[in-house]
Amino acid sequence: MGRTDRIFPDKYIDLHLHLDGAVTSDIAKRLADMQGIVLPAESDALEKLLSVGEDCKDLNEFLECFELPLKLLQTVEALDECAFLVAEKMREQGVIYAEIRFAPQLHCEKGLTQRDAVDAVIRGLSRSGLKTGLILCCMRGSDNEEKNLETAELAKEYLDKGVNALDLAGAEGLFSTENFAELFAKIRESGVPFTIHAGEADGAESVRKALEFGASRIGHGVRINEDPELVSIIAERGIPLEMCPNSNRLTHAVEDMNDYPFMDYLSRGIKVTINTDDPAIERTDIAAEFRYMESRFGMTAEQKREVLLNAADAVFANDEVKQWLRDQIAPGVNEK
Ligand code: ADE
Ligand code: ZN
Repeated sequence: MGRTDRIFPDKYIDLHLHLDGAVTSDIAKRLADMQGIVLPAESDALEKLLSVGEDCKDLNEFLECFELPLKLLQTVEALDECAFLVAEKMREQGVIYAEIRFAPQLHCEKGLTQRDAVDAVIRGLSRSGLKTGLILCCMRGSDNEEKNLETAELAKEYLDKGVNALDLAGAEGLFSTENFAELFAKIRESGVPFTIHAGEADGAESVRKALEFGASRIGHGVRINEDPELVSIIAERGIPLEMCPNSNRLTHAVEDMNDYPFMDYLSRGIKVTINTDDPAIERTDIAAEFRYMESRFGMTAEQKREVLLNAADAVFANDEVKQWLRDQIAPGVNEK
C-alpha cells in the first residue's frame, strides 16, 4: 500500500504517559488478583473509581484519582506486571514507541526501595514487545527533597540502562516550579536530560523557570500564551511541548476548550506533540486523542503527520531511534 492509501495515522508515539494513570479496570483486577487484594468496587463503580468525572474541578482533584492505582502498585511483582500490561496494551493500540513515566518514591509504602521499583518497571517493560523509554518523576511537594534527590541519583546511574530522562510531576498549582531550583541544578550537573510538567496548573512563569533550569522538553506548556515573548522563545528554540488534550480539558488547564491553543502553536512552528498523560483516568487512548483533535479542531492528516514527526524528533533517545521512528511515520520522507 502506498503512503497515501493507508489509514493515517495507524502508528503512534506517546511521549507522556504515567504508569499509575494507565491502570484500567482490567489491569486493576489483574493486579488485585495477583496480590489477594479485594477491590473496593466492581464493573461500572470500579471504572468510576479509576477515572475522573467530566465535572473534575482542577488538577488537584484529578490527582486524587491515583489513590487506588497506587495502592495496587506497592510490590515488585505488581509494578513489573503493570508495566508489561500497559506497554502491551499500547502496542495493541498501534503505539510503536512510548516514553512511560513513574515516580519511584510513590511505590515505597510497603517496604520497597526506589531502586526496587525502578528495577521492577524496567523488567516489565523489557518483557513487552513495545519499544519504550522510561522517565523517572521527581514529585512536587514540600518535604520530599531527599526522595527527589534519590530519584535523580538513580536516573543518573540507570541512564541508558533502562532509564532515559527525569521529570517533575504533581500539583503545580500548590508547589511552584521555582521551589525546585536546587534539585534541578544538581540534575543538570549530572547530565541526565529532563522534562518538567509546567504551564498546566500554573502559568507561563512556571515554564520560564523550567527552561531556566535546563528542561529540554515541557510537559503540557498549554499556558505559554500568557506570555507572547515566551511563545517566541519556545518556537525559536524548538522546545517540544508534550500536550495532552483530554487531560488538559479535564483539569481545566484552559478554562474553555474553544481557546485550546494547540492549533495556534502548531501553526507557529512550535514542536507540539499529542500524548495521553493518564489514559485510564481520562478514559482515553492515543488514537482517541488524535480523533479528538480532528473532530474538535479540524486537524488534518498532514498536521497529524507533522505532530508525529515532532514526537519522533523529541524522544529521549539516540539518532538511530529517531530516524527509525521518522521512517515508520513518514516512509520515504527521510530528510529532516
Ligand atoms: N501526574 C499524573 N498526571 C499529572 C498531570 N497531568 N500533571 C501533573 N502530575 C501528574
Ligand atoms: Zn503528566
